[in-house]
Amino acid sequence: MVKRARGSLLLSIKFDRNSHQPISTQLYVAMRELILAGGFLAGERLPATRTLAKDLGISRTTVIEVFDRLTSESLVTSKTGAGTYVSKALSAERPKHLASQTKIQNQRDPQLSRLMGQAFLRFSDRKRLPHAPRAFTTALPAFDFFPMAQWARLSAKYMRGSRDDVMGYGDPNGAAQLRRAIASHLRVNRGITCEPEQIFIVSGAQQAFHLIGSTLVNPGENVWFENPGAIGARNSLIACGANLIPVPVDNEGLRVEDALRMCPEFRLAFVTPSHQQPMGSVMSLERRFALLSAAEKAEAWIIEDDYDGEFFFGSHPPPTLKSVDTAGQVIYVGTFSKSLFPALRLGYMLVPDSLVDTFQTIMFSYLQGVPSHTQSMVAEFIDEGHFSSHVRRMRLIYEERHEALIRVAQQRLSGLLEVETTRSGLHTIAHLPRHLSEIEISKAAELLNITASPLGRYALAPLKSQALVLGFGGVNPQQIQTGVEVLASVLENQHKLKTS
Ligand SMILES: Cc1ncc(COP(=O)(O)O)c(C=O)c1O
Repeated sequence: MVKRARGSLLLSIKFDRNSHQPISTQLYVAMRELILAGGFLAGERLPATRTLAKDLGISRTTVIEVFDRLTSESLVTSKTGAGTYVSKALSAERPKHLASQTKIQNQRDPQLSRLMGQAFLRFSDRKRLPHAPRAFTTALPAFDFFPMAQWARLSAKYMRGSRDDVMGYGDPNGAAQLRRAIASHLRVNRGITCEPEQIFIVSGAQQAFHLIGSTLVNPGENVWFENPGAIGARNSLIACGANLIPVPVDNEGLRVEDALRMCPEFRLAFVTPSHQQPMGSVMSLERRFALLSAAEKAEAWIIEDDYDGEFFFGSHPPPTLKSVDTAGQVIYVGTFSKSLFPALRLGYMLVPDSLVDTFQTIMFSYLQGVPSHTQSMVAEFIDEGHFSSHVRRMRLIYEERHEALIRVAQQRLSGLLEVETTRSGLHTIAHLPRHLSEIEISKAAELLNITASPLGRYALAPLKSQALVLGFGGVNPQQIQTGVEVLASVLENQHKLKTS
């Protein structure tokens, strides 16, 4: 029997006989934790292996194996015939509390860097809305129409490739085949002439925003940012210490004149010209030229976030800002989160010639790119023509879903919620009458498993109107119909509460 008080700590070790972990590993992990957390004094003698084995109901060989392992890590020392002792090297500096207490202690807020500490104070939306594929979650493509069989075939084909290709480090700038495929896609579909070398593959658009911000903006420098605007991009730039200037938007996009009045000295502007996030407007040509000219004067960069530009309704897509950027100020950012699916975490940035060397250095110095498997599959998917046919098909699906939302909303929500038509994308904006609160509606809808994102989440500075952002891309017309019914009941209840 283990007699010592601290020895009894060992008797509190519980084994999970159903675990895939062998008993020896379980004992090793528990003893190691106890020793490191100060459950034993430095130099203290551990129970004899025979005694411990008997008390724990396990074999002595297992205990010896664990003691050997702890000895090899210098956590304990053994003297033949004299027993096993906790290493004297584990002296005063060890924390004097046990593992469970260690966890509680660690829950204190860590000391963040000054930059990130300040960013934490400015991050809004620390609680994400659920990303569940249900009405009216934003930013979700139609999973039900993704050609999974093709995808699985390409995955298997890739895995049969040469081990050198499949298993080694890839090009940190991105796989050559994918960069070529993207350059050709941009030329044909987005009116952008570029070389594959200008394209850098990243882990989603969000990573591109952070990379651009940390490379080109000094902490405290001004960045024009659409208000309301994209949440992820806002947080990425805040994390770089940028001073975001909330520039109003209207039905022609970013109000460049207002921006110049508010802040003529700026380092970067962030815009979503093809489909303003979240309001849905397309930036007018006049504003595009005004923005390019303001940026040229201020020697500033522009990020064009073309997050859902593939999904326009009708025959002509809105042009990209990059396609009229003659001075090389626009960094174009694309993503496969909408055109394929967000779990890929795959995006790209197209940088002007003047920035190619800079980003090449950054990529190979510390980033090392994104998984080769994903890149190669997407490249094949594009090269074999599946991407363009998928996008063509999805355009029709999203148009149909958009029409379903507008039609049902007109029938059921009239007077309570004005759902705007949009010309592209997977979501739209819906305006509330003044007496209803977007936050209360959103909370009430959430209780009924409906996502209705309040416009305020997207705001950098207070907005005059109340609205909801409704995603329609990820749900079929039947789910849209049911979702609208639920939303209608929420709105009617809130209306009664406010007017009775
Ligand atoms: C405005 C905007 N930009 C970009 C993205 C895509 O980001 P990522 O490629 O990191 O998934 C989204 C996704 O919802 C978005 O809303």
